[in-house]
Order: sequence, then C-alpha cells, then structure tokens
Amino acid sequence: MSAYLPHADRFAARHIGPSKDDVQSMVEKLGLHSLDELINNTIPSSIFDNRPLDVPEARPEHVVLADLRTIGRRNKIFRSYIGMGYHDTITPRAILRAVLENPSWYTQYTPYQAEISQGRLEALLNFQTAIIDLTGMEIANASLLDEGTAAAEAMMMFFRLTHKRTKFLVSSDCHPQTISVVQGRAAPLGVEVVVSNHMSFEFTPDVFGALVQYPGSDGVIHDYNELCNLAHGTGAFVAVAADLLSLALLRAPGRFGADAVIGNSQRFGVPLGYGGPHAAFFSTRSAFRRQVPGRMIGVTVDMDGKPALRMALQMREQHIKRARATSNICTAQVLLAVMAGAYAVFHGPNGLRNIALCVHMWTRALANGLLRNNYQLRHHEFFDTICIENPPADLRTRAESQAINLRYLGDGTVCISLNETTTSKDVDDLLNLFGANTSSAAELVAQIPASYDGILPRRTPYLTHPIFNQYRSETELMRYLHRLASRDLSLTTSMIPLGSCTMKLNAAVQLAPVSWANFSGLHPFAPVDQAAGYHEIFRDLEKWLGELTGFSAVSLQPNAGASGEYAGLLVIRAYLASKEESHRNVCLVPDSAHGTNPASAVMAGMKVVVVKTLSNGDIDFDDLKSKTVRYSNDLAALMITYPTTYGVFEEQIRDICELVHKHGGQVYLDGANMNAQVGLCKPGHFGADVCHLNLHKTFAIPHGGGGPGVGPICAAEHLAPFLPGHPLIKTGGAQAIDPVASAPYGSASVLLISWAYIALLGPNGLRRCSEIAILNANYLAHRLSGYYELLFRGRHGYVAHEFILDVRSFKRTAGIEAVDIAKRLMDYGYHAPTMSWPVSGTMMIEPTESESKAELDRFCEAMIAIRTEIMEIEKGRQDKERNILRQAPHTMALVCADDYDLPYTRAQAAFPVPWTRHNKFWPTVRRIDEAYGDRNLVCSCPPIEEYVT
Ligand SMILES: Cc1ncc(COP(=O)(O)O)c(C=O)c1O
Repeated sequence: MSAYLPHADRFAARHIGPSKDDVQSMVEKLGLHSLDELINNTIPSSIFDNRPLDVPEARPEHVVLADLRTIGRRNKIFRSYIGMGYHDTITPRAILRAVLENPSWYTQYTPYQAEISQGRLEALLNFQTAIIDLTGMEIANASLLDEGTAAAEAMMMFFRLTHKRTKFLVSSDCHPQTISVVQGRAAPLGVEVVVSNHMSFEFTPDVFGALVQYPGSDGVIHDYNELCNLAHGTGAFVAVAADLLSLALLRAPGRFGADAVIGNSQRFGVPLGYGGPHAAFFSTRSAFRRQVPGRMIGVTVDMDGKPALRMALQMREQHIKRARATSNICTAQVLLAVMAGAYAVFHGPNGLRNIALCVHMWTRALANGLLRNNYQLRHHEFFDTICIENPPADLRTRAESQAINLRYLGDGTVCISLNETTTSKDVDDLLNLFGANTSSAAELVAQIPASYDGILPRRTPYLTHPIFNQYRSETELMRYLHRLASRDLSLTTSMIPLGSCTMKLNAAVQLAPVSWANFSGLHPFAPVDQAAGYHEIFRDLEKWLGELTGFSAVSLQPNAGASGEYAGLLVIRAYLASKEESHRNVCLVPDSAHGTNPASAVMAGMKVVVVKTLSNGDIDFDDLKSKTVRYSNDLAALMITYPTTYGVFEEQIRDICELVHKHGGQVYLDGANMNAQVGLCKPGHFGADVCHLNLHKTFAIPHGGGGPGVGPICAAEHLAPFLPGHPLIKTGGAQAIDPVASAPYGSASVLLISWAYIALLGPNGLRRCSEIAILNANYLAHRLSGYYELLFRGRHGYVAHEFILDVRSFKRTAGIEAVDIAKRLMDYGYHAPTMSWPVSGTMMIEPTESESKAELDRFCEAMIAIRTEIMEIEKGRQDKERNILRQAPHTMALVCADDYDLPYTRAQAAFPVPWTRHNKFWPTVRRIDEAYGDRNLVCSCPPIEEYVT
C-alpha cells in the first residue's frame, strides 16, 4: 500500500503534459485502442520489459524537498581554504535570481538558431571578452567542461599544430587533478607526458608543448617568460592554467608569451557545488582559431546589414568532420559562463580589482602574522595561497574541530588559500589555529599597502568595454539581464521540438536544492566524511540508474554526454588491455551516429570504421556482418545509438550485440535517447556492455543554453573495475582508468536534479514518461504526415520518441529549404526542430512527454500554416525570392518600418496565427549572414558605436 494518500500532490501529473482524456483521444487518432497497444507496436517484443522498476515509490513534492533537506544536513559545510582551483565566492543575489534560478536562462538550448538567441549570445560574448582581457590573449571560446579537460584540449591543440612530436611537459606545480586528467587524455594518443620541474626541463626537439600553473598549485608565482622563450625557440607551445581572479593583479599570460590560457571561472560567482558545474575558459592566439575546441561566439551582421551575433566557425565541427573532428566537446558549461560573465559585468574592472586586492591583502596579513611567529613559508611571492612548512603537529585536528579545511600536502606542509568571502575574523581564526601570538588581522592588514607590490604586477587595463562599466546598480543589472533573457526563446515561451535533445520540463522543485548552502558550499576535495549527504545522493543515483539501464555499476564523473562516450570507450580499452587484447582498436560506428561518437573513438585511440545505415534507418546488418568478419581480430567496440538517431527501435538490436560479441568486441550504447526506454527496455539486458546517459536530457537537468550536462556511464560487471578514478578522492573500480573530469563526481550539484526527478516520479511515473514521450511523437508524426513526408517508421509503422520530416522536395517545387522553415517558425513563436541531422535537408522533431496536447496542436497548426505558405509559392502566388519564408524571420523593427515594402502584409509577417497576437515572441535580428561572420571573425564585444550604427 502507498505511503501517501491518493490526494497528495502527484508530480507525474504536472510533469506529463497530456491528461488522461487527452491520451485516450490521441491514441484513438492513431487508430488504436490504448496506450499499451501503441507501446507494444513500438518497442520490439524481443527487448520489451515493463516489469516494475526497483526504485522507490513516487514521493510528493513537499516530501522530496523535506528528504533533500535532511540529506543536505548530513553534509558539513566547513570554511574551505583548500584552493586548488576551487574557491568560495559570493554569488551576487541579483545573478542567482536572474540567471541560475531563472527558467528563461536555464531552459534555453544551445544557440543554433541565432536570431532567437541574441541575449545569450551577448552574455557569452561578455564572458569571452572578460577572458580575452584578463588573460591577454586574442580569442576565447564560450566555455569548456572544467580546468582539467581544458588543459587536455590545449595539449591536443598543440599536438595537432606540431607534427611528429610526442612529448608534453606538465609542470609538477600544476593541480594534481589537472595532471591526472591530462595524463589520461595523452595515453591513447601516444603522447608522453613528462611531469617535472619546469625550471630544469630541457626542451628537446621531440617536445611539442608545456603546461604550467599560474600561480602554482601551492600558490607560488613564477615568471614564465623565459620558459615561453625556450619553448618557442624549439617550436613548442606553452599553455598556462591561470587563476582568473589573480589576473586582476598579475601580468596577463599573453604578455609573457603564453600560446593558450585555460582555467576555471568558478570563483566569478559560481558556487562550489562539490565540484561543479563550473565553466572552464580557453583563450589563445587568433592564428589558432580553427583549432579551438568547443564553441565560439562571433559578431556578424543580419540580412539587413545590422550587427548580430552567432556561433562562429566550428559549430558543426563533429557533424561535418566526424572521425576527423579535433575534439568531441558538444555540451559545455554555458549557464555557468553566463554567470561568470555577468559577475564581470556586475563588478566591472574596479570591483574586480578590489576583490582581488582584498583577497591578496588578507593573505599577506596572514603570512605576516605567521612569519612573525617563526613559521616558515615555502615561498614569498603569492596571490592568495601560502604554504607553511612547519605547521603545528595537531593543526588538522584543531582546524577540523573548528570546521575549517586546509590543504595538507603529503610532506607535512600546509597550504591555505583565501577567497572573496574571507573576513578579518577568518584570518584571526587561522592565526589562532597556528597559536600565533600576534596583532589582530585588522591591525596586520592596516600595515600593508593597499596595492599589489609583488612580482609581475599587472600594467595593462581590462574590462574597458562599456558593457563592464555601466551596470553598477542592481536595478540596472536586473534590467540588463532581463533584457538579454527576453531576446531568447526558451521553454518559458513554447515547446522546443529539438530532436535528440529532449527539451522536457526542468521542474522548479528539482532545481531548488542546487542553490541550498548545504549542497552549494562544499569544496570537491573536502574530506569525504563531510560530504555524507552528497554520497547518499550518489549511492542512490548510481543504484537507480543501474536499475533503469540494467547495468551493475555507474560512474557519475563525466560532465557531458560526449565525455561519457570517451570514458566508456576508455573503460573498454582498459578491459581489453587487461585481457591482453590491446591490439583490438577498431571501433565500428554507423554513419547515422551523432558526430561526437566518432570523435570520442578517435580520442580514445581507436580507429573508426563506418557501418552503413539502410534507407529505413536500421543498421545495414549485412555491412555490419562483413565488417565484423573483416576486423574480427582487431574489433574493440561497436557504438550504437538506441533507439537510433533516425527515431526508430531497431528490431535486430539483440542480434547486432550478439554479432559484435561473437567477434570479440564490446557494445557501447549511446543512451542520449534513453527517454524512449526508461521502464520499457534495458540496454544492459539486450546486449550492451556500457552506455552513457545524458542526464541533461532524460533526467531533467536543464540544458542551460549549452550546458551544464552530466553524462554518467553505466557498465556491466566485467567493466566495473575500470570505471574512472580520481587522484584525490577515491572513485571507480580497482583498476580505475585516469579521471575524465577534474572533480571526482563531476558536476555534483546538478545530480540533485536527477535524483529529485526519479524520486518524484517513482517506477510508474518514470515508465509513464517514456510511454507519453512515444505517444506525443507519434501523435505529432501522425498529424503532420498529411502535410510533410515522414522519413522513417518502425516495423509496425510507428516512430519512437522522435521522428524526421523530409522537406527536401520543397527546394525543387518552391525554392524552399529546411532553414527557411526553421526561420519562419520563429515568426510563429517556435524554435526550429533539429536541422539537417542526421539526414541533410530534414528536420527532426522530439516533443517529449512534458508538452500538453494543446501545445502539440498549436505546433501542428504552425507547421501546417507554413505548409500552406509553401503551397502559395508552389502555385506561383508568392514570389520565389521575396516570399514570407525566404524573408523570415520578421523583426518588430521591420514590420514597424515606415518604408516596409515586402509583398505581403505586416500582419501576415508577424501575426500569422491568432495566438501570436496575445503571445508574441519577437526575433530581435533578421536572418544571420554566416559567411560574413566567417570572413570577419570577431569574438569579443565590438565597439558600442557598431550597435548604434
Ligand atoms: C545521440 C547523441 N549522442 C551524444 C550527444 C552528446 O552529448 P553532449 O552534448 O552532452 O556531449 C548528443 C547530444 O546532443 C546526442 O544527441
């Protein structure tokens, strides 16, 4: 019997769009009697398994919140002076409310449709500009997953730029977690990482680059000028892992010759969150612009020649280059980059300098107090971190009894990193811990000049652009952030029908705990016993995800789907090595796979062999057969997406897995489409060996405009020993591979969202979500198939949770392409479906279970109205060029212009259907000129006059 009364708040009913009656009428529209009938006709009987899931019964919202509060109290929030790239910070409340807790920001998707994403693009351009300014480099990207992987990306970039060199220096002064991540990345590529003292290192001709930390992990400030000269003299490159706040006082790495500067922007107002999510930054020279991993925002113009923003250059990197892609990064950390950029806008150059100065002055006060008491410091040139070589023997016990965490190095040395939140009381407490008999912190700090007078002082200005100098008051900042949000179409406006992206509800209740202090305030390297609450969440989530996928072990470490793919393949690689089968290095990848799949395989040191797809979307079994035979001796893995990227449940999935196993390979299942499977079938039971999940799709973590993400991997028992480890906190199995992320549990704080999602829905609700996701897709497919050609269907004529419309024929009949439909949808208040993927010239639609029947019908109305508009062109009633689709989208400025001269009315342009009159979303720029942006790459804020003109 249920522990909750029937009238208690049931989350499933609010998460799932269609009501019971709607479901019945939709099922009948499909010519069926029941939802069960649809599901039986959709999921192949050979894998169908709807036995009750072994997850706890659904809990009402208030119970889940109360449970989370109890769990949260099991975390102990100490004052953290551990540092190592993670620092306590003050999140301005205005930014917390306006961005992190605002669905207008967190429910956006990656800005593929620039015309309805100008706000987020501007926020990211601010982030890039702040990074470029502070690091002193020429270009920056719009974030990477974390500092460790950003360092690895810099290494890979240098590796590509220098041919035939294989050695890479990593200074022993780098953070240990960064060193491990870089080592893990290097091994499959055949790169030899030399961890050594950079000062005595010799740049031989086989060295292609170096990584140094600035300031060093123990806080010392080195001048890397000579190192850069030495490296450059031999044709090698230097990456600097920098502390962003220190750059407000210290010489910019670009000034002493860095070729790339990377790091974590967390201390720009983003909570610690037990390790993430945080946005890493990556800046470099303009000459390397085509090698930069991830997305870069660029300035361009629209079709009217007005300034506009868009994602520049490599946005289709993996889709076009596939096995030749230079990086697998797809989802990054956009929401957190927006926050860090907003922090820079909020504080401006003076505010930032003051924050950095305060941190430094407290550190100096602490150092002086300790020096006066005969403590020895390892170094005297520091920004915010000092290292004490002769601490009292009982320091740790006393510190922990006062709820203070310090960093204890193995050699008995102790490091202390201060931060923006540090007060005179904190410094007094630290001095007391050392038994220092000295003046108070306030007196000590009064004896210090209020300026930075250490080595390498910064002389160059930063954040000079007006954007960083005009929003000092909270009122102004609030309006600015609101203005930006209002330029972006998010789930707060309408359904975002992006296929393969699962833009479902990100419920407020699930997001609430992320910013509770008991979860947001934990340092990732705090002793594990202080994180008992978090570990309870991890244990539950690992167990639940294992149950839903049919696997026995789970790693929560990967920070995105692609990172999960890479981790899963490395696990396979390690398993094969343990069987002395390291020669197996062929990875079979269907040509319909997501572009990150081949890119991840190459990064994992595998050779990609493409398997053909049949015209119905299934894998070409004959081709697979012949390739498994041909590569039988070398077969490492098959990567397969299920249901396929074409939106169908492949009937032969069991046979496919069996075939690969027969030839000694492992099956990697891309679980981005798990939303069609939860509670209905389990990859671990139908033959896969390992799969990743996109928690930012199926399990309700919001996309945040392009991140955060979480891509846990779920693995069968034989692979469990190899799950990713970590150098500082034990994770993974007995033969763990190197970490794939800087933090042991990746983006720990957003795991709370998925935990709450599962706890709120319970076994029945979870299964119901999959069923309704399938129903919604089939309902839309059915309604639209009278107007558009539906490309693929399963054996019984039904689609999975998404489907593809083929619009290629309109090119011939009306000169209309998929992109024209995408832009016209904006005038109707909709985001376009996924464009030209996995089949060029098509549109892939995924409604998810969260959309109501009314919203599905409204979307159909828009699509059908557009089909009528296409018909007008086909019949010659509309011009082939100056028609309503080719001219879309229509901005307010255009339809209100005195000299409006388009051959259709203003109302037809802007208010094509009745609902747009009372709920109108205005694109703020007209169609983007991509070619102009590619020819004139600008990826920092342009002079303000350009906007005015
Ligand atoms: C099928 C598939 N696989 C992998 C990925 C990569 O996931 P992520 O963007 O989180 O790296 C995606 C993302 O869109 C996807 O759709």
